[in-house]
Amino acid sequence: MSAPPKTLLHATPEEEAAIRAAVRASANMASPTGERRLARTEDAAAAAAFFADDAASGPIYDLPRPFTQANVRAWIEGRLERHAAGEAVLTFVYDGDEIVSYADVAIWPQHASGELAGAVRADRQNSGQGSANMRDMFDWMFEDLGLRLICLTAALDNIRSQRGIDAAGFTRMGGRDVVRADGSIRQSVYWEMTRDQWRARWKSAS
Ligand SMILES: CC(C)(COP(=O)(O)OP(=O)(O)OC[C@H]1O[C@@H](n2cnc3c(N)ncnc32)[C@H](O)[C@@H]1OP(=O)(O)O)[C@@H](O)C(=O)NCCC(=O)NCCS
Repeated sequence: MSAPPKTLLHATPEEEAAIRAAVRASANMASPTGERRLARTEDAAAAAAFFADDAASGPIYDLPRPFTQANVRAWIEGRLERHAAGEAVLTFVYDGDEIVSYADVAIWPQHASGELAGAVRADRQNSGQGSANMRDMFDWMFEDLGLRLICLTAALDNIRSQRGIDAAGFTRMGGRDVVRADGSIRQSVYWEMTRDQWRARWKSAS
């Protein structure tokens, strides 16, 4: 499971409550890949089919392997419970009956911090959509959810992810061992970015 950032911020009670409320109030939204819909348990079959392609799911450590509908449904239900607590937002983008991208945001309201994981379907990879989706989500996490810090990890050999995260302006802060669903460890590159850094990089000219 994902862990809070290495840098631990402390939210005031008011800030924490506002973040939880923003998470609970989050709605479907536009994205570079299409409409990003809040997850529902009925998405389990399409999500299991999406994750079955290792090109999409292989680099993601905390997915519910093996990708049976029952496992994926239980994973979605867990995210929905955390959504109700103001601590998670799981979304899918559909093309017809098929999922073409997912985004899974973990939130630690007490630290005003969050983490993003996600993937796009293989035929949409290497076209700039993944990086565009990431930037879109980071902006939403900082500006709409009210987070002040985002942390990210990527596998040591996930060069595309690393390039996309570097290009967004995140700062590499060494490594992190992340724990897969089966309890095994994956070594990762670790990044952080603050909201002030985000605004300075992407909004100073506007
Ligand atoms: C990671 C992922 C979201 C990136 O999205 P994408 O649309 O495929 O990638 P992009 O086209 O935006 O390219 C991202 C960067 O990788 C570079 N890149 C693309 N293909 C590459 C390749 N084969 N080798 C090296 N670099 C490559 C791009 O030039 C770009 O770098 P830049 O920002 O410096 O120009 C997508 O590939 C994906 O879903 N992969 C599977 C799941 C995954 O790895 N999720 C992230 C876990 S941390």
